[in-house]
Amino acid sequence: MAGSSNHFNDELRAKLSIVDIVGKRVPLTKKGHNFWGCCPFHNEKTPSFSVNESKGFYHCFGCGEHGDIISFVMKSQNMQYIDAIKELAMAAGMKMPEFRPKSPEQAAREQSYFDIMENACRVYQNALWSSDGAAALEYVRKRGFSDEVIKKYRLGFAPNKFNTIAAKFSDQKLSNVMATGLVRQNERGAYDFFRNRLMFPIFNPNGQVIAFSGRSMDGSEPKYINTTDTELFHKRKTVFGLNFARDAIYKANRSIVVEGQIDAIQMQIHGFGETVAPLGTALTEDHLQILAKANRNIIFCFDGDGAGQKAAARGASIVMPLLRDNSDVRFVFMPTGTDPDDILRTPGGTSVMKKIIDSAIPLVDFLWNIANKNFVINTPNGRTQAEKFLKTEIEKITDPNLKNEFRVEFDQRKFNRWHKWQREKGKRESIEIPKVDTFTQKTLSEIAVAYPELIEKHAEFLAKVGINSDFSNFKLQTSNLSYNDAEKFIVSLKLKNYIQNLQNEKKDLTTKMLNATENVQQDIISKIKFIDSEIEKSLEKSSALSEI
Ligand code: UTP
Ligand code: MN
Repeated sequence: MAGSSNHFNDELRAKLSIVDIVGKRVPLTKKGHNFWGCCPFHNEKTPSFSVNESKGFYHCFGCGEHGDIISFVMKSQNMQYIDAIKELAMAAGMKMPEFRPKSPEQAAREQSYFDIMENACRVYQNALWSSDGAAALEYVRKRGFSDEVIKKYRLGFAPNKFNTIAAKFSDQKLSNVMATGLVRQNERGAYDFFRNRLMFPIFNPNGQVIAFSGRSMDGSEPKYINTTDTELFHKRKTVFGLNFARDAIYKANRSIVVEGQIDAIQMQIHGFGETVAPLGTALTEDHLQILAKANRNIIFCFDGDGAGQKAAARGASIVMPLLRDNSDVRFVFMPTGTDPDDILRTPGGTSVMKKIIDSAIPLVDFLWNIANKNFVINTPNGRTQAEKFLKTEIEKITDPNLKNEFRVEFDQRKFNRWHKWQREKGKRESIEIPKVDTFTQKTLSEIAVAYPELIEKHAEFLAKVGINSDFSNFKLQTSNLSYNDAEKFIVSLKLKNYIQNLQNEKKDLTTKMLNATENVQQDIISKIKFIDSEIEKSLEKSSALSEI
């Protein structure tokens, strides 16, 4: 059935995770970049069966079996090709195409579309480097694109004429050209869709040009126009920059999603090669499925404004079903009024951007923040709404264990923050307050400003040691600590506190021992031994933390 829809199979492979599919039949553990398990195709006790998520294949070093997601289903379930495809299509939520071999005409037509797009890309590139494109070239250079980068991303210019592309093709080919979206037709004939625009080609994963995005050069609106959907291009399924980002995503073991294509390019050339962007549309399930397939660690980096918050909330909502126990999804917001491109073009911008990316907060905290910000938590109604919001999001998680962990986590936070914290407020006077040095106070208050969710998360502990969670009278700028370092700081405080308590307990026990009977003494000695081992463990943990 070689002629059956290759597009369809590519999409299947793009949408489904081979680790998920194989993982349903073979328990897999991640080691290095691959997942490992015992081969289902021969008898073995030690795992020699490896699955590579990003490349989408499995390989057994014991028996030599290998293949992709489709051959796995065929072999492991003894299925015919067509049935395997049907099963996978169901799992991916895709409608089965009619299985018709691609006709020679269809194949030829598609090839002709690719040829037209490639030709057009060259025409636009040439125009950028000709006198027609002088102003556009100056513009991109001013925006910080080196000639090398302009060439790598194949930027071009659509001259301010109606027939740059339309005149290039003969009449009999015109219907194909129109089908690529480059040329339109009215009563007076064919005319170019892109005019007087800086042209960004959009590539498929194979690096073929499938569409363009054109930025207006004269301030006219809309600022960007994109090729409308065609047989080659579906914008809801196209992740801008992914063709360039694949290797970097693999190496960085994560991807970064930004809002604009210029931002994605600037990020890529400033050391964040793993950056991509949606294109002329909000993020879709398809975008994230494609990304998650490359890697399930995703950092969403959006505008700090209301629209960015909304986009991020949407990102969170559609990433939920894709979460696995090893996925690390985070969110970060740009300082209001800036985008990554703005930041990266300032002196020292790369390290500022790195700090911003490092301060991304985990999905669980982001959801918790939304729940607390969007609803009036100090009323029963508000809390109910917030609770419903969290519940709806949690319900989308497919892994039952992970779903449960999210539930437990939020239950605990709700208890700490919405209920228990309030109750303990009055009681705090009676708690013995340890001395907290000014450095700790100051660092904690910095953290409170930058990452209030961290203070909330550890509120119970902080209350216990008498640290007030109200830092409002501290006037501080954003913390220099990354989210991770901030959390490490709090955890190390926790450890110190724990060690202190253990040492106090040990002192008490030692005093008790002096006037105890021999039997009781034995008991006390074993307790002390246990305490000593706990202290040692905690000290180790503590020094491991401070090393970082
Ligand atoms: P922005 O308005 O943030 O633009 O749109 P930008 O990326 O900062 O561009 P510059 O720096 O002004 O050149 C973000 C993204 O939204 C889509 C594009 O994909 C853009 O990259 N967009 C925006 C459109 O599709 N059409 C528009 O008119 C505007
Ligand atoms: Mn911008």
